[in-house]
Order: sequence, then structure tokens, then C-alpha cells
Amino acid sequence: MPDDQPLPSPLLDRLAALLGPRGILTEAADLEPHLADWRALYRGKTPCVLRPASTQELAEAVKLCAAAGAPLVPQGGNTSMVGGGVPDEGGRQIVVSMARMNRVRDIDPLDMTMTAEAGVVLKAAQDAAAEAGCLFPLSLGAEGTATIGGVLSTNAGGNTTVRYGNARELMLGLEVVLPDGQVWNGLRRLRKDNTGYALRHLFVGAEGTLGFITAAVLRLFPRARESEVALCIVRDEAAALALFRRVRDRDETAVRAFEYMSGTGVELYRTQIEGGTVPLTGGEHYVLVDLASSRPDAGLRALMEAVLEEALEAGEVLDATIAESEAQRAALWRIREEHPEAQKREGASVKNDVSVPVSRTPELIRRSSAALKAMIPGSRPVPFGHLGDGNIHMNLQQPPGMQAADFLARSHDIMDTVNEIVRELGGSFSAEHGIGRLKTDMMESWRGGAELDVMRRVKAAIDPRGIMNPGKVLP
Ligand code: FAD
Ligand code: MLT
Ligand code: ZN
Repeated sequence: MPDDQPLPSPLLDRLAALLGPRGILTEAADLEPHLADWRALYRGKTPCVLRPASTQELAEAVKLCAAAGAPLVPQGGNTSMVGGGVPDEGGRQIVVSMARMNRVRDIDPLDMTMTAEAGVVLKAAQDAAAEAGCLFPLSLGAEGTATIGGVLSTNAGGNTTVRYGNARELMLGLEVVLPDGQVWNGLRRLRKDNTGYALRHLFVGAEGTLGFITAAVLRLFPRARESEVALCIVRDEAAALALFRRVRDRDETAVRAFEYMSGTGVELYRTQIEGGTVPLTGGEHYVLVDLASSRPDAGLRALMEAVLEEALEAGEVLDATIAESEAQRAALWRIREEHPEAQKREGASVKNDVSVPVSRTPELIRRSSAALKAMIPGSRPVPFGHLGDGNIHMNLQQPPGMQAADFLARSHDIMDTVNEIVRELGGSFSAEHGIGRLKTDMMESWRGGAELDVMRRVKAAIDPRGIMNPGKVLP
């Protein structure tokens, strides 16, 4: 069916009959939360939001939509940073919310696995693992809203990638509803399974363009019995990296997270977030070091103190504080995790979710900050993020006094400026947020040729009608 044709109303009637009153939303007020992304970059339209309660219901709904050529947009917690989970402005794309598929089906502390449905909120998955005496280690600022389906579909990274890897590394098996409505049950909980193409990995990071992830087998780990968190002011970006090396060299297995923050970002937290107190102020560069071990006698306190003492003597660390309680550890983490919210409250910002080899992070931060300041006088670079993975959020805050719309009109120039530096440093223009709708225009220049060609062929083979999340990922 041509893209500009309205969806046939018999389709909506059949979907309503299939899913029941709780399974389909059509009132404008109910559609509202599903139309715009977290950053309010895009605002689309949809004839309805489907809310299937089970894999089978979703499969039947997909069959109906496929037969009618109706485009589908999977949506989890709608926290995408790249407009991945919202419909376009055409009014034909049907949003499919996974919110009602939110059961943890099984936890096995011996296999160290959890089988969770796509709509399980990340925090709920962490809590369920903790109740079973285990750890599900994926952790990010949006964990109270983001879902298992969403984090897998974006291959989210977050704060603990340095130790546990991205979402992909935490997944053993998947259940998927394919674009023709077939259900693929790949919910295997095996550590070894070399049986042809590893299909499950195709759907991780596909951002809903190849099908619906409906459930996943996730890897669990032993829970932490000891942890230490320190906030440090470091001399400069190079000193931040030197500190990372010092900690890692002493005990690589102890590092759970190693996060960088600029003085500008910490100040935004202090001024924009309610109760935003910071124990060390006045620094230009901050680092949050998080050590954890499943051993109760790991000696992390001694390790942290020894490393900080060395780094203080070397002039790399200028000041540091180690949290004394769980509450203090959470308070230090809040400074880092509230950075996106603080940036949002301060006004318009452009995000550059980029990665470079870890060794090049100081150069990335220095060069990009200088280039951005020169490009838009008065603008404020707010670099922060996962230094231990080489993934820095090289974000830029609008100049005070400039209209948000004028600033945002320069978004793509701003991203290009950072990306040029990233390319020279051998990095990637999208480290963990994905492509969504925001970055499709960059795919040709970064992934063009054989790579994009194969991606297109995979898409055509799995979704020949092109109904899954059109306009996302592939240009
Ligand atoms: P959505 O936003 O709903 O969807 C994301 C994409 O996945 C869309 O393309 C959607 O169509 C698709 N999708 C969703 N569910 C399914 C499904 N079941 N099957 C198929 N496709 C599906 N990301 C990081 O990697 N690291 C961070 O540290 C991080 N921090 C964040 C902090 C904040 C405050 C916010 C708002 C976002 C952050 N993000 C981060 C970005 C975001 O990618 C993650 O929050 C998360 O991965 C998205 O999950 P979601 O359920 O909200 O997915
Ligand atoms: C985070 O790590 O907090 C987000 O991924 C970064 C961002 O908001 O730019
Ligand atoms: Zn991040």
C-alpha cells in the first residue's frame, strides 16, 4: 500500500477485536505519551497504539498488519536518544508498546540466567536478579523507564560496560516475532551453541527494524559483596586516563565503572537538580571510580586508597573523596546519572554520543571542546561519560541568551564538527545510543559500500515488505 494512503479501517477493527479494549489505544490523550521522544526532537502521529499482552497476541497482530502493509514502530520505555521509538509525521505508522509484556518468566541462580519479557523495566530486572541473590549488571540513567526489549534493540552500554560489556554480551537467547508474524523461539540458555548463523545477534542493535524482541535470556552474575566509590578532581583529561590505567593495572577485575565528568556538567547538576550537592567543587575535570567485588574480603578500600594516594602524589588527582556508606555511594553516582536531566533543564543541547580508542579520549575531549567553542561562541561543551570504554558524550549546551531553535538549527553542523575529529581518531559516530532517525544521514559516509549493502540485503530478506520501523537506521 502506498505510504500516503490512510490505513484501512477494517484493519483497526480487527486489531481491536484481537487485542481487546486494554490492548489498543485510540484516544488522543492516550496516544500522547507515545508520540514524542525523550529529547522532544521529533513528534509524530499514529492511528493507534497496540499493547499486546503476550507473544501470541503480538504475532497475530503483526500478521494482520503485514497483510495490510501497515508499518509498525516498536516502543519500550521511549527513552531513545535518537528518536528510534516514535512514529513519523505521516500518521500511518502504528506504535506497538511492549509495556504489558512485563513478566520475568524465570530466574535460575545455578545457570545464572533470567528469562524476561521485552517490557520488563531494566530496574525491575535488576531488582528481580537481586532478590534471587544475583546481579544483572546493565546500568544506565534511564533504568527506571528503559525496558529489556529497548536496551537489547539498541545494544545499550551504560556505566558498567567496562566490566560486563554491552547489552549484547549479556544476552544468551531471544524470542522474536518476525515481520511476517512467525514466532522464532531462540530462548536457549546455553553458553556454547555453534549451530549456524547466530541469528540472535542480528536483532540486538537492530533498533526494531527486523522484528520484535518479545523475551530474552539474560546472563546474571554473582552480586557484589564489597564496593567502593570515589569522586575525584583530576588535573586534566590526560590525568583522568592515567588514573584509569593505575586502577586497572592494580586489579582489572575490580573496576565496575570509570566515568568522566567536566566541571561544566557537575555545575549543571549542582544548579539544575533538586538537592544537587557536590562534595568537591571548583574542579574542571572529575572522575567517578566504582570498584566492586563478589568477594567479601576483596580489600577494595585499601586498593582505592593506595591508587588515589599514588595519583595525588603524581599530581594527577587534585582532590578526592571516598563514599563511607551506601547512601553516599548513591549520592556520588547521582551526580553522574543526572547529567542528561541537568542538561535538559538548562536548555537546548546537542548530543554527540561518540567513541574512540580509550587511549585517544583526552585528545577527543580537548580538540572537540576547542572546535565547538570556536564554532559557536558562548556555547558550553559538556563532555562526560564512559571513559573506561572510550565512549564520551561530547555534548554541547546552547549559549545563554541564544534562542534554542537557532542553536538546534546548527545540530548537524555541530555533530559533523565532532565527527570529523572522531574519524581522525579512529572512532565511531554512534557509540551506544544507535542511529534511530537522528543519524540515518550519517550511515552512507560512515558505513557505505559493502557494509551498508549487506545491511540492506539483510533488511530486505527479513522484512521484505519494509514494515518494521521504517525511516530508522538505514538511509
Ligand atoms: P525505546 O526508546 O522505546 O526504543 C529504542 C529502540 O528500540 C527503538 O528503535 C525501538 O523501536 C526499539 N525497540 C524497543 N523495544 C523493542 C522491542 N521489544 N523489539 C524490537 N525493537 C524494540 N543508552 C545507553 O546505551 N547508555 C546510557 O548510559 C544511556 N543513558 C540514558 C540516560 C537517559 C536519561 C536516557 C533518557 C536515555 C539513555 N540511554 C542510554 C538511551 C537509551 O538507548 C536507553 O535508555 C535504552 O536502551 C532504551 O530503552 P527503551 O526501552 O526506552 O527503548
Ligand atoms: C548517559 O550516559 O548518561 C547518556 O547516555 C548520555 C547522554 O545523555 O548524552
Ligand atoms: Zn551514556
